[in-house]
Amino acid sequence: MANTILVGAQWGDEGKGKIIDVLTEQADIVVRTQGGNNAGHTVLIGDQKYVLHLVPSGILRKRKTCVIGNGVVIDPVSLVEEIDGLVELGVKVDRNLFISENAHLVFPYHRELDEQREILKGKHKIGTTKRGIGPAYGDKAARTGLRMIDLINPPRFEGMLRQRIKENNGVLAAFGAKPLSFKKVHAAYRAAGDRLKPFVTNTVVLLHESTRRNANILFEGAQGTFLDIDHGTYPFVTSSNTTSGGACTGSGVPPNRMDRVVGVMKAYTTRVGEGPLPTESAEIADMLHAMGREFGATTGRPRRCGWFDAVATRHATMVNGIDELAITNIDGLDSLEALKVCVGYRVGTTRYDHVPNDVGVLAKCQPIHLEFPGWRTPTDRARRWKDLPAKTRNYLKAIADLTGAKVTIASVGPARAQTIFL
Ligand code: GDP
Ligand code: IMO
Ligand code: MG
Repeated sequence: MANTILVGAQWGDEGKGKIIDVLTEQADIVVRTQGGNNAGHTVLIGDQKYVLHLVPSGILRKRKTCVIGNGVVIDPVSLVEEIDGLVELGVKVDRNLFISENAHLVFPYHRELDEQREILKGKHKIGTTKRGIGPAYGDKAARTGLRMIDLINPPRFEGMLRQRIKENNGVLAAFGAKPLSFKKVHAAYRAAGDRLKPFVTNTVVLLHESTRRNANILFEGAQGTFLDIDHGTYPFVTSSNTTSGGACTGSGVPPNRMDRVVGVMKAYTTRVGEGPLPTESAEIADMLHAMGREFGATTGRPRRCGWFDAVATRHATMVNGIDELAITNIDGLDSLEALKVCVGYRVGTTRYDHVPNDVGVLAKCQPIHLEFPGWRTPTDRARRWKDLPAKTRNYLKAIADLTGAKVTIASVGPARAQTIFL
């Protein structure tokens, strides 16, 4: 399989978890390189649904090594809960999971600040997951963060945490929020630190030694291209590089060791949280929500839905270097009489064939649509490309061509078997 970076080509929740699970079969190692427990990656195995937040989705397959890389921000208490939850479901999490010493930590003051900043922004809020992701990455960049390596060194951790709680309680007071108790946070984090210590290691060395042995590494992206801190619809983004470059910086595996980039995209568009979504459509949202689909895996919020946006996905191909596409949730469109695909944006008399950087302009963009006939046939039982209706194949070929990469995987349901390889 070689070293593969898998990224979301839209606004997150593209079905990365399912595709990672499918591709893990050929991988030796699965690595998360950015984001935190703002991610929610769903994998369905038989009747059991797993939602992974920090642990790489590869953990669900036997004899695979999973790594949480240096670029991830870890809430250690919730990581312990996630591991315990997996173990309860019969998943082995023992000597198959490694956590970078350099990964930064998320603390309760990050969560509280995330919430307070959102309240202060009022109607201009980002709609974050309130997991403290922005403030944690903020501390990392400000060089005031604590890392896993600090957590597992009790005397050092105590001193650093005491200082951080003191400073952040001052900031929280300015927001009119309650101060945090050093004692409580310390006790909870020390307990989590003791639990996580056996997993903590120098993951850069681990990955490089594996590369020398020709291991196949799969890099599991979280969030999506338009939530990227540099390339997304700033400020309505998350705080990490969700695009393919993040896989290198977030793992220590350099660009010349990467072999291919797979972009995952839905056959339509969704977004959870605030910010522009040019192809948003009540028609498609109502249809999908009525089917019980498109509710957030982390926060349960209904996702906003829209037609497929080829201007956006073409941009994603460019910034990620997408070689191959996995198109998911094709079956979600089965009942439609006609489908729209956005091929350009218009603001007044100005046409845009790329995503404008000014989020105010993007918010005003009206989609220019092409229409495709619907197939009005269930696709969820298709197992080969030729099982799909001709109209479905035409639609998929058209959106891949517009995106500028070739389709190699078509997904017609959440289960492993509902996957077509081309
Ligand atoms: P991720 O964050 O990119 O891993 O995606 P999520 O797990 O948050 O959301 C994707 C949702 O779509 C999950 O509920 C998946 O089980 C589901 N899913 C993935 N692929 C397909 C598909 O082809 N068809 C259907 N019906 N559901 C899918
Ligand atoms: P996966 O990996 C979809 C969104 C939030 C919000 C913005 C910032 O499951 O695709 P944050 O809490 O990161 O500061 O929120 O980013 N967001 C996601 N949307 N899928 C995700 O992850 C997301 N992680 C964050 O809704 O708009
Ligand atoms: Mg998700």
